[in-house]
Amino acid sequence: MSNALSRMHAYAFKANGGPEVFERIDLPIPEPGPGQVLIEVAFAGVNFAEVQHRRGEFGAPDGPGGYDVPGLEASGRIAAIGAGVTGLAVGDEVAAYLPSFGGYAQFAVTAADFVRPVGALPLQVAAGVPCVYPTAYGLLTNVGRLRAGETVLIHSASGGVGRAAAVIARALGAKQVLGTVGSPAKKPRGYDAVFIREDFARGVQAVTAGRGVDLVLDPIGGPVRKTSLSLLAPFGRVVMYGDQGLHGDWSEDLWALWKNTQTLAGFNIGDVARRSPETIGRHLDTALAALASGELFYEPPTVVPIAEIADVHRSFEAGIHSGKTVLRIS
Ligand SMILES: NC(=O)c1ccc[n+]([C@@H]2O[C@H](COP(=O)([O-])OP(=O)(O)OC[C@H]3O[C@@H](n4cnc5c(N)ncnc54)[C@H](OP(=O)(O)O)[C@@H]3O)[C@@H](O)[C@H]2O)c1
Repeated sequence: MSNALSRMHAYAFKANGGPEVFERIDLPIPEPGPGQVLIEVAFAGVNFAEVQHRRGEFGAPDGPGGYDVPGLEASGRIAAIGAGVTGLAVGDEVAAYLPSFGGYAQFAVTAADFVRPVGALPLQVAAGVPCVYPTAYGLLTNVGRLRAGETVLIHSASGGVGRAAAVIARALGAKQVLGTVGSPAKKPRGYDAVFIREDFARGVQAVTAGRGVDLVLDPIGGPVRKTSLSLLAPFGRVVMYGDQGLHGDWSEDLWALWKNTQTLAGFNIGDVARRSPETIGRHLDTALAALASGELFYEPPTVVPIAEIADVHRSFEAGIHSGKTVLRIS
């Protein structure tokens, strides 16, 4: 970073609302505190969570000048390092999870715990890794306890987390990887079968010969979650990690879980980052290495200039995008 440079561009909002609330603003470049790293952002991954952030599902904006800069993951070069950071150097090409947001900007600051060298992975691919892959690994391993030979059902199968989870599940030895999507136009790779979400129960029962599934990853909630519970095989687990369907909370008869030795569990990457930052760093390391080596297959992301952020959010909200989208920042 040049010493003369003290301000940066960012895309931010100061009131929750539709995609039109995004403004291109000027902000001071943040300074890395102890244990933190400042990154000159090359690409920022777009996640559905940023739509939710903008809409107000995470609360009203309260950042500098009353603006929030969204963005949970990014890649770029280290511009400055705070006190006590070891193993990283200015100029390193890195990928970073940003639990306090800030990826839709020329510079972003985050704890070194969440920053890892990209190695041989292109920066535009690496930008879509730091939130998505630790989430997928956490869902499948830490909480979902996937074992080789099991069957997994992944809702929102064509999204960023869904696609990553399908590939990782296969690499972990899943026997059958099933998914659900909102429309027949979506045909994500990596699945043995993909069902339309409105009516997935019959299809799942058919391809599992009535046994059901061992693990369900559910970011949708409501009826999808209830039906998923009814499709669990003995010892099965449903891991909930979102409320995309905006159904809100609901109650369930827990006796069925008890009597059938089944589990309904939760996962939240922000919570894991606070309580166990090393878990995020470990999953990020694993993912970057496995993607670079080819052990994990990936489809190249769609790259869009950040000036088009409002349109990108519109397509996310309409559910018409597919695969991973990253913003070109510089
Ligand atoms: N708990 C955590 O730690 C954590 C971490 C990361 C993400 N998440 C959550 O996981 C979910 C997926 O995130 P992502 O970044 O993978 O999303 P994404 O890449 O934007 O994919 C989202 C996909 O979800 C489907 N969808 C289902 N219901 C939808 C709705 N009401 N509106 C729009 N799309 C809908 C759409 O596909 P179809 O057309 O096939 O339905 C859409 O393509 C989000 O809810 C996010 O908040 C949670």
